[in-house]
Amino acid sequence: MFIWNLNLKDLPEFLTHLTLNSNTGVMYSALVMCLFLLLCFAMNRETSCKVYLIDFACYKPPNSQKCSKELVMKQARQHGNYTEEVLQFMKNFMERGGIGDSAYLAETFFKPSYKPLMKDARREVEMAIFGSLDKLLGKTGVRTDNIGILIVNCCIYNSVPSLTSMIVNQYKFRENVITYNLVGMGCTAGLLATGLAKQLLQVHNNSYALIVSTESITENCYVGRDRSKIIINCLFRVGGAAILLSNRPSDHNNSKYELLHAIHDNTSSSDRFYNCIRREEDSAGIIGVTINRDLLAAAIATIKPNLIAVGHLILPIREKLSYLINYIIRKLLPSLNIQQYIPNYNNAVDHFLPHVGGKPVLDDLQRTLRLSDDVMEASRMTLYRYGNTSSSSIWYELAYVEAKGRVKEGNKVWQLAFGSGFKCSSVIWRAMKTVDHDEYNPWTDEITGFPVNVNCGPVPVDFAPSKLN
Ligand SMILES: *[C@@H]1O[C@H](CO)[C@@H](O)[C@H](O)[C@H]1NC(C)=O
Ligand SMILES: *[C@@H]1O[C@H](CO)[C@@H](O)[C@H](O)[C@H]1NC(C)=O
Ligand SMILES: *[C@@H]1O[C@H](CO)[C@@H](O)[C@H](O)[C@H]1NC(C)=O
Ligand SMILES: *[C@@H]1O[C@H](CO)[C@@H](O)[C@H](O)[C@H]1NC(C)=O
Ligand SMILES: *[C@@H]1O[C@H](CO)[C@@H](O)[C@H](O)[C@H]1NC(C)=O
Repeated sequence: MFIWNLNLKDLPEFLTHLTLNSNTGVMYSALVMCLFLLLCFAMNRETSCKVYLIDFACYKPPNSQKCSKELVMKQARQHGNYTEEVLQFMKNFMERGGIGDSAYLAETFFKPSYKPLMKDARREVEMAIFGSLDKLLGKTGVRTDNIGILIVNCCIYNSVPSLTSMIVNQYKFRENVITYNLVGMGCTAGLLATGLAKQLLQVHNNSYALIVSTESITENCYVGRDRSKIIINCLFRVGGAAILLSNRPSDHNNSKYELLHAIHDNTSSSDRFYNCIRREEDSAGIIGVTINRDLLAAAIATIKPNLIAVGHLILPIREKLSYLINYIIRKLLPSLNIQQYIPNYNNAVDHFLPHVGGKPVLDDLQRTLRLSDDVMEASRMTLYRYGNTSSSSIWYELAYVEAKGRVKEGNKVWQLAFGSGFKCSSVIWRAMKTVDHDEYNPWTDEITGFPVNVNCGPVPVDFAPSKLN
C-alpha cells in the first residue's frame, strides 16, 4: 500500500524499456518474462556474507535539557537579534511544527545569552556519543578491544582530533581499528555509514563494526533575520545513536536484526537539487542553513528511484509475477480492458520508518505516497518527542516500534532517510527474534502515553527562492 502509486507509474515505463515494442508477439514477451524472472531470482540471491545488527542504543539527554515551545520562544527573544516578524513566524511554526514540549536542546541555549564556545559544542557531542555508547556496550557486553571497525557520522559539527579519535581515546580501542569519520553528509549519513560498514564487513572476517550517528547543535543556532534559515532552529534537537553490527557467524543467535539490503541514491549532479539545503551566510554575513523551495521536488526526485529499487528487491516473487502476467495480457489483448494489477507492498515490510525531517516533509511524503496514519506513526511520534535529530532519528523510530512491542521474529523493517545533497538511502532489516522489553530503550518509561494526536493543520513555511529561477 505504501508506495504502489509511485511504483505503478514507473513499472510500466521500466518494462516498456525492456520490451521495446510490445506488438512483436507472444514469443518475445515470453522471452522477456523469462529474463525478468531470472533477474528477479538473481537480485534476490545473497552472495555476500551475512551482516547482523546485534543491538543499538539511543541517547536520552537529561530532563534539565527538555525545552518547551514557550521556553524556546523566551530564549529566542533573549538570544537572537530577531525582528518581531521573525519571532512571530517562529512561534507559528513551533505551534504547528509537530514537535512537543519535551524535545531536548543543548545546554548552551539555557544560558542568559547565546555565546557558544567550542568546548560547549564538544561537550554536547561527547554527552550524546558516550551516552549512547555506554548504553550499547552495557547492553551487549561487547568489549571495545574486539571492535575492528568504527564509523562516526556527524554532519555540521566537526572537530580536531576527529570524533572517531575521541571515541578511540575514551574507550581505548585497539590500535589497528579501522576508522571513518563522515562529515557534511546530512540526514542520510547514518544509513550511508551502514552501507559502508556492510562493504567493510565483506572483506574483514569475524569483525564487529560500530556506527555512531549524531550531531551537535550548540554552535548552529541561526541568529539572523532570514526566515528560511529559522526553520532549522525550530526543528533541530539533541540526539545520538550507537549501532553494533557483526559478521561473526556466532552472533547469528544473539542479534536483533539481519541486514538484507542497503540502497543509496543521490541527485547531487542536479544544480537545483544540490542547492536546496545549504549552509551559508545570509546577506548580513550570519551563518545558517538555507532551505529553499526546491526541497520538496528534490525529495521526490531522489526518493522515487530509491523506492523503485526497493520495490524490486522486497516484493515477493508472486507479486512481481502477477504484475508481469497482468501487464503482458493487457499489452497483448488491450480489447479485454483488464485492470492494472497493483502489487501489495503491505506483505513486503512490516515497519516503515522514514526520517522525521520536519512536518511539511512528512505531510508531503504521506500525501505523495498515500501512506496511512498508522504507517507514519513512528516518524511523527519521534518528531514530536525528540525533534529532528538528523541522522539518528531513524533509530529513535525503530526504538519506538520496539517499545510498542510490535517487532516480531521475521518482521521486515525499512529505514528510509533523505537529506541534503540531495541523497536518499534505504536499509532493510529482518528481525531475528521478537524484541522484548528493554530498560535501555529511551521510550520504555513513557511508551503507554503514545501515540499522541499531532494533527494541528498545515504548518507555515517560508522557503528561500530557488537558486535557479
Ligand atoms: C541587530 O541587527 C541590526 C540590523 O541588522 C543591527 O543594526 C544591530 O547592530 C544588531 N544588533 C546586535 C546587538 O547585533
Ligand atoms: C575469510 O573467510 C573466508 C571463508 O570463511 C575465507 O575463505 C577467507 O580466507 C577469510 N579471509 C581472511 C582474510 O581471513
Ligand atoms: C543457533 O540456535 C539454533 C537453534 O537453537 C542452533 O541449532 C544453532 O546451532 C545455533 N547457531 C549458532 C551459530 O550458535
Ligand atoms: C551518488 O550517486 C552516484 C551514482 O549512483 C554514485 O556513484 C555516488 O557514489 C553517489 N554518491 C554519494 C555520496 O552517495
Ligand atoms: C533536519 O535536521 C537536519 C540537521 O542538520 C537538517 O539538515 C535538515 O534540513 C532538517 N530537516 C528539515 C526538513 O528541516
